[in-house]
Amino acid sequence: MSCLDTNENLVQVADRIATAVKEFKGDRTNQVELIRQVDRLRNMLDEPIDVIMRQWETSHVIAALHLLVEMGALEKMPTNRSITAKDLAALVGIDESAIARALRLTVMQGIGEETEPNTFAHNAKSRIFLRSGAVDFFRINVEQMQAFIKLPEYFRTHTHDDLFDLKKSPFAYSLGLEGLSYYEAISYDPERFNMFNMTMTQMEKDVPILGMFPFASMKEQVESNKDRPFVVDIGGGRGHVLVAIQEEAPAGFGGRLILQDRADVIDSLLPVDIPNIEKMPYDFFTPQPIKDARIYILRRILHDFYEPVCVQILKNIASAMGPTSRLLIGEMIMPDRTQMGGDMLIYWMDFSMMMLNGKEKSEKEFEQMLDAAGLEIVKIWRFHIGTQAQIECRLKTV
Ligand SMILES: C[S@@+](CC[C@H](N)C(=O)[O-])C[C@H]1O[C@@H](n2cnc3c(N)ncnc32)[C@H](O)[C@@H]1O
Repeated sequence: MSCLDTNENLVQVADRIATAVKEFKGDRTNQVELIRQVDRLRNMLDEPIDVIMRQWETSHVIAALHLLVEMGALEKMPTNRSITAKDLAALVGIDESAIARALRLTVMQGIGEETEPNTFAHNAKSRIFLRSGAVDFFRINVEQMQAFIKLPEYFRTHTHDDLFDLKKSPFAYSLGLEGLSYYEAISYDPERFNMFNMTMTQMEKDVPILGMFPFASMKEQVESNKDRPFVVDIGGGRGHVLVAIQEEAPAGFGGRLILQDRADVIDSLLPVDIPNIEKMPYDFFTPQPIKDARIYILRRILHDFYEPVCVQILKNIASAMGPTSRLLIGEMIMPDRTQMGGDMLIYWMDFSMMMLNGKEKSEKEFEQMLDAAGLEIVKIWRFHIGTQAQIECRLKTV
């Protein structure tokens, strides 16, 4: 028996989509909403077996892209003209039919084009796989799939507590690196290390940096005392957050912008990567050395860990904060209830974080962790779409 949604419901969603398409002028918020509605319509049209068929589709496209990326096929495809599968196969050094079969699959997903039979060309969606950072994002996803596949085996061979043990993450287990923390496992292989750090500089469209806390409003304060550190970005990776903040606060209004991360990440940065930014190796499991900064940023750090570890990190920051210092926690906030058609990003990210002993947290969970670390929320600056926010905190006042 078909379990399609009622015709009336289908028409209602389709009508809403038609109206939104007519009014669409390229605005990102409307675009995200439209994609959600289209996904919802497809979901309503799917029979149960279609769910499995769609998963097959997705896994095969990922496998095809994995082949094309790792063999350098997309890189060797000319960007200004088409190429036959035969010529591309010769450049890559594998069988022509394998290249063509993989490319046909990606073309079906809008990634690349088949301009003539067995002749392929790049388009905007295939060219994204040529960009450093974007392709690393894809590769790190594929690598993480090893942990997904081994998850049942991990749970069968581990205790309940192991999931919360920093040295026993499913990720490290899948790579045969159990005993190392997630970040030690990342640093273990230079290629993975670079891939991870470049990945973190991506995703700004979906995980925004600006458009929440009003950095520009700090101008007068910062200019009145430039010696007081303006922003300390803790675990700031390649400095992309401090670079972005300078769009709202050019050159940090002359105040100090300090980037802290693990020594190997800091050492990999050249001055040209981080204009107007001081770099400082620092381990956030030790007390914060920069005292009384105006702003401490902790973006996408707390979701890497479970609560007890987060409280440790927060206490180390609190130990350096003055009464007017602010901590800005950049994280997604888990909705209280899951509803199909909502923002998917936080749910896959949460599952992804489980591979490395972390999780996305609800507003209540943030409140509890902050309270335990002697901090309180001043305001939650939510991005206008999705679940991303900046939680502005200060030392507890009572
Ligand atoms: C998920 S990334 C987030 C990077 C950046 N904050 C962002 O939002 O894109 C986590 C960062 O924390 C850094 N990190 C991990 N363990 C650390 C530690 N013990 N002390 C300082 N930084 C650490 C990693 O090197 C990485 O750059």
